[in-house]
Amino acid sequence: MKKSVLQRFNALAGLITIFSIIGAHQLVAQTVWLDQLDLNAATQGYGTPGKNRSIDRKPITIAGKTFQRGFSTHAVSSLQVLLEGKANSFSAQVGIDDEVTGHEPAVEFELYGDGKKLWSSGIMRLGDAARPCSVTLIGVQKLELVVTDGGNGNYYDHADWADAKFETTGGAALSTYNPISGEPYILTPKPPASPRINGSSVFGVRPGSPFLFRIPATGERPMLFSANELPAGLKLDEKTGIITGKLLKEGTYVVTLGAKNAKGKADKKLRIVCGNRIALTPPMGWNSWNCFAGEVSADKVKRAAAAMIKSDLVNHGWTYINIDDFWQNHRDPKDSTIRGQLRDDRGNIVPNARFGNMKELADYVHNAGLKIGLYSSPGPWTCGGCAGSYGFEKQDAERYALWEFDYLKYDWCSYGGVIDGMPNNDPYKISSLSYKGGNNLNAAVRPFKIMGAYLRQQPRDIVFSLCQYGMSDVWKWGDSVGGNCWRTTNDITDTWTSVKNIALEQDKAAAWAKPGNWNDPDMLVVGTVGWGNPHPSKLKPDEQYLHISLWCLFSAPLLIGCDMEKLDDFTLNLLTNDEVIAVDQDPLGRQATCKQTIGDLRIYVKEMEDGSHAVGFCNLGLERATLSYKDFDKLGIYGKQQVRDLWRQKNIAHIDGNNKELAITVPAHGVLLYKFSGVK
Ligand code: GAL
Repeated sequence: MKKSVLQRFNALAGLITIFSIIGAHQLVAQTVWLDQLDLNAATQGYGTPGKNRSIDRKPITIAGKTFQRGFSTHAVSSLQVLLEGKANSFSAQVGIDDEVTGHEPAVEFELYGDGKKLWSSGIMRLGDAARPCSVTLIGVQKLELVVTDGGNGNYYDHADWADAKFETTGGAALSTYNPISGEPYILTPKPPASPRINGSSVFGVRPGSPFLFRIPATGERPMLFSANELPAGLKLDEKTGIITGKLLKEGTYVVTLGAKNAKGKADKKLRIVCGNRIALTPPMGWNSWNCFAGEVSADKVKRAAAAMIKSDLVNHGWTYINIDDFWQNHRDPKDSTIRGQLRDDRGNIVPNARFGNMKELADYVHNAGLKIGLYSSPGPWTCGGCAGSYGFEKQDAERYALWEFDYLKYDWCSYGGVIDGMPNNDPYKISSLSYKGGNNLNAAVRPFKIMGAYLRQQPRDIVFSLCQYGMSDVWKWGDSVGGNCWRTTNDITDTWTSVKNIALEQDKAAAWAKPGNWNDPDMLVVGTVGWGNPHPSKLKPDEQYLHISLWCLFSAPLLIGCDMEKLDDFTLNLLTNDEVIAVDQDPLGRQATCKQTIGDLRIYVKEMEDGSHAVGFCNLGLERATLSYKDFDKLGIYGKQQVRDLWRQKNIAHIDGNNKELAITVPAHGVLLYKFSGVK
C-alpha cells in the first residue's frame, strides 16, 4: 500500500520526536552514583549503612586513601539494586576502612547479576590498597552487592564500596530494594476472657530452698486460684495465684492448679519435682543488656518488672528479671553513678549508686511473684569493666543468696587475662585477647566449677548461666560444674545475619540439651533493643517469627532483651503465643535439629513429651518457598497425623498413608511452625 505524502511526513516527524526523546533521555551515558540510591535497603551484620561516610561516620579511608563518595557497610552485607537492564556497567574501589586499625578484619566483596557471580575481590584485609572493581551489566535486571565475613567471623568488618557508580544510558531510575517484607502482621489470636493456665507443666526445686511459683493464667480478672494436693510446706495465695513455702522432702508431687473467673474455669496439672535439679524447662524472662547495656539502674529494673505484670507477659510464663553488667562499680568511672568502692573493707561487693539496696530490689520483684537475676565475671573485671568476682567467688555467692537472688549469669570476660598472667589493668584489652587456653580444658572449666560449687552451697536455688560463648564445647561439661544453661555462640545483635549464623551453629550442641541443661543461643532481639541506643529491632516481621520459632525449637532460655515499657502490639503478640511457648517449655527437654534441607529451606524437628513433633519449616532464602511436601519419614513422622499451625493456633490438615502431601508456602526469611500429632 502506498503512503500519502502527509502520512510519510507524519511518520518522519514521529521518528524525529521518538529519536529526540531517546536522544534526550536514554542515549546519553550518565553516571548514577550508588550513594544517590536508598542505602537503607541493605542488610548488614552490624550498625547501619553509611552514605559517603564510614560505618563509624568518619571519612571513607582505605589504606591511607580518602574517598569522597561511597557506601560503607558491615559484613555480612547484601544490597540489592534493581537495574531492569538500564545500567551498562558498575565500578567501585573496595576495601576495609582504616577506622578499624588494631583489629584483624577480613572480608570478600562480591557482585551477583541475576544470581550469577560476576566478580569477587578475593579476601581483603586491613591495610590492603583499595581494589578496583569494574563489571559490565548489559541486560542485567538485578545486581546484588555482597560482603562476606572472609571466613573469620565478622568482627570489625567495616567494608567500603568507595566511588561506587553505575554508567547508564540516559540517567535511568535505578533503585535499591529489600526483598523481605517490612509490614508487621499478627498471627496469634487473643486469649479468651475465660481462664487458661499456661506455662510449663513441670517445676524443679531443691529440698529446703524457698519455693516461689506464680500460676500463669490468662483471662479476665478477678480470678480465683486453687491448687489441689499441694504438698505440705507450700501455700497458695488464692487471689494472686502465687505459691510460696519450702519443701523438705525429695519427691514428685502432682498438683492440680485451678483458675476461675466470671467467664469460666480451667485446670492444669503441675509436676513439682523436689530433688537435685532445677530449671527443668528453659528459664523465661527479661535481661537488661540488649536494651540498656551500661545504662541499667534499679529503677529501670523495677519498671521492667512492673511492665512484665502490666503487659500480661507474666501470665504466659515469663518470670525472671535479670540485671546484666553494670550494677557494680566501674574501674574507670567517668560517670559518677558507677564510681565508688568496688568492695567494702570486708571484701563484699558494693553495688553502684544506681542500685544501692539489692535486697530491697529483690523483694520488690519477688512480691510480684517474679524472680530476679544478676551478672558477674570469674575474672577481675566484667566485660564492661565493672568489678568481677575473681578471688571473691565464695563471698559473692553468699552475697547473692543473702540478697535473695535467683539467677547468676557468669561471663568469662577478663578471665582470659588471669590464665595468661596478663596485667589486669585494662579490662577491654584483656577481654579482646579472649581465651588463649582454647585447648586447655581445665582452664576453661575451672572458674565455672569454683562458682558452681559455691552457688550450690547457698540455701536457695540459683540458676547458673554460663557465658563463655561456647569455648571448649561447654555443652559437654557445663552440667558437671552445676551449669543450667550456657551460651553456645557469640553475642547476638538485631540483624538477620547474626540471628541466622547463630541458629546455624546450634545443632552441634543439641544432644546435650536436657531438663536442667540448656544450650543458650543468646537473648531475644525483638521489640525496642539497642544496647543503650534504643531502636526497633532491625529484624523484619518474618525474621522475628523465625527467630522466636527457632529459639523455641532449640529449647533455648527465652530472655526478652527489649525495653519492656515500649512493647508494641506486634512484639507482644510474638511473645504471648502459648502454643509456641509450649514448644520451648516441653518437659521432655529435647532440642530440635535440622533433619532436612531443601534449597534454602531447613526443616527442624523437635520431639515432644506427648509423642508429637514440633516442626519448623524455616526459609533462610530470599524467595518465598512453595512446595508440596511429602518426605515425612525423613522427619521421623509416620502414620496418621493431625497438623496444627502453632502461630495461628489452628488445625490445618490431616495426613495419612494415602494422602501424605502437605502444601507449604513459607515467606522469605520466614517460618511455618507446625505440630504433628499422631491420630488413631
Ligand atoms: C558479653 C556478653 C553479653 C553481655 C556483656 C556485658 O560478654 O556476651 O551478653 O553480658 O558481656 O558486658
